[in-house]
Amino acid sequence: MLCGFMLIERVDPRADDVRQFFDVYAAAQKVDDPHGPPTSYTDFRGRLIWGDTGDPMQTWLGWSDDRSRLLGGYTLMLPKYDNPHLGWVEPVVHPEERRRGHGRTLADHARAQVRESGRRLLAAGAVEGSPGLAFCDALGAERASIEHRNVLDLADVDEAHIAGLLAEAREAAGGYSVLSWIGEVPKEHLDGVAPLLTAISDAPVDQLEWQGEAWSPERVRAVEKSLTDTRARRYTIVARHDASGVLAGLTQLYVSEEHYGWAGQGHTAVLPEHRGHRLGLLMKAAMLPWLREQEPDVRRVVTTNAESNSYMLRVNHLLGYRLLDRWFSCQLEVG
Ligand SMILES: CC(C)(COP(=O)(O)OP(=O)(O)OC[C@H]1O[C@@H](n2cnc3c(N)ncnc32)[C@H](O)[C@@H]1OP(=O)(O)O)[C@@H](O)C(=O)NCCC(=O)NCCS
Repeated sequence: MLCGFMLIERVDPRADDVRQFFDVYAAAQKVDDPHGPPTSYTDFRGRLIWGDTGDPMQTWLGWSDDRSRLLGGYTLMLPKYDNPHLGWVEPVVHPEERRRGHGRTLADHARAQVRESGRRLLAAGAVEGSPGLAFCDALGAERASIEHRNVLDLADVDEAHIAGLLAEAREAAGGYSVLSWIGEVPKEHLDGVAPLLTAISDAPVDQLEWQGEAWSPERVRAVEKSLTDTRARRYTIVARHDASGVLAGLTQLYVSEEHYGWAGQGHTAVLPEHRGHRLGLLMKAAMLPWLREQEPDVRRVVTTNAESNSYMLRVNHLLGYRLLDRWFSCQLEVG
């Protein structure tokens, strides 16, 4: 399909062209996100194939009309499990090709895909003060929610401080024990983990029209295929309620095969009926010495939370996380 002066084509994420899309993405990341964790090709490709939540992703590339240059492209997630009313788009234009209307052409194309799939909303994320946010505003998108991206610099972490927090949390969390594993959820815990991943869905998302994710054991397993494909290591800590045997809380952390010194925080959740026992602090404080022992080359951890999720932000600040930037989720009716 030729859109204005851009040839837009869908690509199989396993095809060679994806390498060129990665080059555009990496060039943009250097300009747009110089202080955040760099993305490796393996992770980039893995995400296009597997998505983050088991939902299908489409990848579209935008070429110059003689197909000699890749100008940019976008990924579009059309959720199949939850949120059937929206598509999540991530457009990117090579830094040397910007302000020529390519971003708008890609967004119009994505809008048409969302409309054709019977959905009514296009959603996207952009960092405060960035070209991406100016772009969202220019398209008339509504700023619907704010997230904080926080970073923990492990060199600044005082082990005695963490040990103190851990002792304080253990005291408040009598009757719970901590279990941990690396990689796939062990078979015996699969039924207990799915409700914990669902429990994260009552974390605040402000005005964003985002329905909570419902996780089944099958969905947990489907998403784990990306771990094998990308050889990422996932560290999981759960808090078990001893009297009932129920898994009451969970926190997960990811370390990529090529991690550039960064670990990424995954889900953290506590079942509603087990909140108020400092399980969040217990699990996150327990993760840090374990990470240090397992991954001595990791120097920073990055995490993202809704600005209105004061409980999680408080736990993170206690552990020493500092604000890197604020992200806006924006949404636009596709008409
Ligand atoms: C956002 C992005 C895709 C825009 O690509 P682009 O090709 O430069 O966009 P366009 O030329 O179509 O710009 C459309 C309008 O957006 C606004 N805009 C785009 N970049 C802007 C900037 N740096 N400052 C101010 N306004 C900007 C302008 O109103 C522009 O219209 P104008 O040039 O006629 O004034 C590009 O900057 C990018 O790849 N950013 C990194 C990825 C990202 O943030 N993606 C999330 C976006 S939802």
